[in-house]
Amino acid sequence: MVAFSISHDRIPNNVHLSDDKRLQRALEMWQPNFLNWWLDMGPQGFQEKDIYLRTATSVDSDGWAVFDYVKMPEYRWGIFLSPPEKNRTIPGGDFAGDPVWNEVPGEFRASLRRLIVTQADTEPASVEQQRRLGETCPSLYDLRNLFQVNVEEGRHLWAMVYLLQTYFGRDGREEAEALLNRRSGNIDKPRILSTFNEPIDEWLSLFMFTNFTDRDGKFQLLALAESAFEPLSRTCRFMLTEEAHHLFVGQTGIQRVIRKTAELMNEHDCDDVRPFEAIPLSIIQRYINFWYSSSLDLFGSEQSSNAATYFAAGLKARAHEARDYEDHAAKTGHYDLEVLKNGQLVKESIPLRNAMNEILRDDYIKDNEKGLNKWNIELQKHHIQHTLYLPHRRFNRTVGLYSDHHFDPQGHLISKDQWEESKTHWLPSKEDRAFVKSLMKPVTERGHYASWIAPPLKGINALPNDFEYVKI
Ligand SMILES: [Fe+2]
Ligand SMILES: [Fe+2]
Repeated sequence: MVAFSISHDRIPNNVHLSDDKRLQRALEMWQPNFLNWWLDMGPQGFQEKDIYLRTATSVDSDGWAVFDYVKMPEYRWGIFLSPPEKNRTIPGGDFAGDPVWNEVPGEFRASLRRLIVTQADTEPASVEQQRRLGETCPSLYDLRNLFQVNVEEGRHLWAMVYLLQTYFGRDGREEAEALLNRRSGNIDKPRILSTFNEPIDEWLSLFMFTNFTDRDGKFQLLALAESAFEPLSRTCRFMLTEEAHHLFVGQTGIQRVIRKTAELMNEHDCDDVRPFEAIPLSIIQRYINFWYSSSLDLFGSEQSSNAATYFAAGLKARAHEARDYEDHAAKTGHYDLEVLKNGQLVKESIPLRNAMNEILRDDYIKDNEKGLNKWNIELQKHHIQHTLYLPHRRFNRTVGLYSDHHFDPQGHLISKDQWEESKTHWLPSKEDRAFVKSLMKPVTERGHYASWIAPPLKGINALPNDFEYVKI
């Protein structure tokens, strides 16, 4: 274990930035542009407020214990990589077992840059998507959690820009600028992935996003953490520690919505809790269906030659490649995929390397099932006879094999007419969205919570629920 000291540089870091004057200058030139972007596109209306935030000042456990009031533009965004593993070798692909790379090999430069830029672009995009949510926060606790996620996505951008500026020369500097110039939802200069161009304008969607979409992020980071390119691997390993909080916000946020609904269902002996300004389980289910299926799309096509190329080169591997697999070449194995032939679903065996997206999606699905289970336990605790579900992976897809056909939430092939007839039962309707939006009234009194969400079981950093998490 390598010891890192807390840095008091302008840019906090554990990469010995002061030893590389060229890089330090490049990042110090990028820093004011980042700040301008943050002031323009970051959380609206709260830039001057004191927020009780956690700041990473180093990668050891002390560095994570720094909680204090901070104004967001003064948050110390920094560059942190997990400590190197001794004698780490390439986990997967054609070069498995060789020493990892500390520089980018020329032949993989373009692919690696594309991977990093695609990941990087999601970070500022999500801050932009969520920038107006502060206006309708359900509590100070939730408001603080939103801002914690936002500043950490900002730090993830820093992490990726560090890689671009350090290892990709002029191209990298241009990409770093472009990351600050694209805008979520902008027709002329949109963010790269379509999910990241949808505005998130109410909190149920925020919780769904941080549960389902940030979880996609977790699995992309797990796959990139197995990269042969050591700086990328170490960067992603540290980002994963931050991602855990984002998933916590989503998972427990949805759970608290369910708890409140369950309490009201019992209290009033009814299913429809809308008159009590809470969200019925049927609407929660439709939101789950929408966000889960749209996040499944982010893993890409089931069969992918790009994914095979990335794997072969060692740029990206399976989640926990080194820990969980024996055959790291994956050259001979097969994956059974259900494909559509003449209107029938039939099994087709495809080369394992071409199925890397699907394998990562399998892991993602399993991880989601654990979260779902916690929500259903919450219902059981309240003696509610209702089970929430995750729709089938074929349901409502717009990317890949299943996107040309229609499937019900159980994964059965259905006709276009059946789909049109039933989709409002399965996906949020205009009325659902309008109703959820109508509940979004700000609650900023200490210890108070909106009508549609239960308080958390415990506060942040062992503080009480009525702590002044944000000084309004
Ligand atoms: Fe992130
Ligand atoms: Fe995240």
